[in-house]
Amino acid sequence: MPERHAMTLHRLKQMHALGEKISMLTCYDAAFAALLDEAGVDVLLVGDSLGMVVQGHATTLPVTMAQSVYHTECVARAARAAWIIADMPFGSYQGSIDQAVENATLLMKAGAHMVKLEGGSWVAPLVRALVERGIPVCGHLGFTPQSVFSLGGYRVQGRDTAAVEALHADAGALEAAGAAMLVLELLPSAVARTLTAALSIPVIGIGAGSGCSGQVLVLHDMLNVSGGRQPRFVRNFMQGQTDIRGAVQSYVKDVKSGHFPDDSLHGY
Ligand code: KIV
Repeated sequence: MPERHAMTLHRLKQMHALGEKISMLTCYDAAFAALLDEAGVDVLLVGDSLGMVVQGHATTLPVTMAQSVYHTECVARAARAAWIIADMPFGSYQGSIDQAVENATLLMKAGAHMVKLEGGSWVAPLVRALVERGIPVCGHLGFTPQSVFSLGGYRVQGRDTAAVEALHADAGALEAAGAAMLVLELLPSAVARTLTAALSIPVIGIGAGSGCSGQVLVLHDMLNVSGGRQPRFVRNFMQGQTDIRGAVQSYVKDVKSGHFPDDSLHGY
């Protein structure tokens, strides 16, 4: 396989502009980082979903900064070309700008290329402060798992006009503050498509239909090892494959070609 060039923010933005789909998967350790990187995944997300799929918690809320740093270090040691995003866990940025800067700095020192935080206009000042200090930021709107209790469970967001208007205002505020990427989770396909078209930064969807600049799934979900009931938007990429490498390559191929996701199946 030819050597891959290291992924950059410039290239991700170019992919968004050219309509080339971006493939992203969550990743929490070195073995999978090497495999996903070799299989051609563009972006590895050290997601706080690690609290659920690695640690066995019911939500992402218990994940600590120390754990996020540890898993980011594991991934960064083995990834060669993929862009690495580290999630800022619950409680690591909600307190103040100083707290957000301090914790984001730890994740960048651990090997992240970008940090991700959840929330709308209220996080815009944090985003600006991080970007001014040279830390690239990815926003996260729609269903935001750290707010699962406020949102009343795993529900599709953006279902009425007021909610859609709020999403546009939030996305605009994040972009204006300097966010260089955005994750949209659990939104109607048409809403995510319109939001993506309105922004000049790459938008990565999960359960948000095919109109985004790229797709992300939780690794354990697409490998069908999470157990329990899977959301409708998840596809089992192990089906028809004999090994994990094949499943990941098939995910990359289907995201790039637009065969994943299927817009009729994007609800929870
Ligand atoms: O933590 C995570 O895995 C995430 C994805 C659901 C986007 O934030």
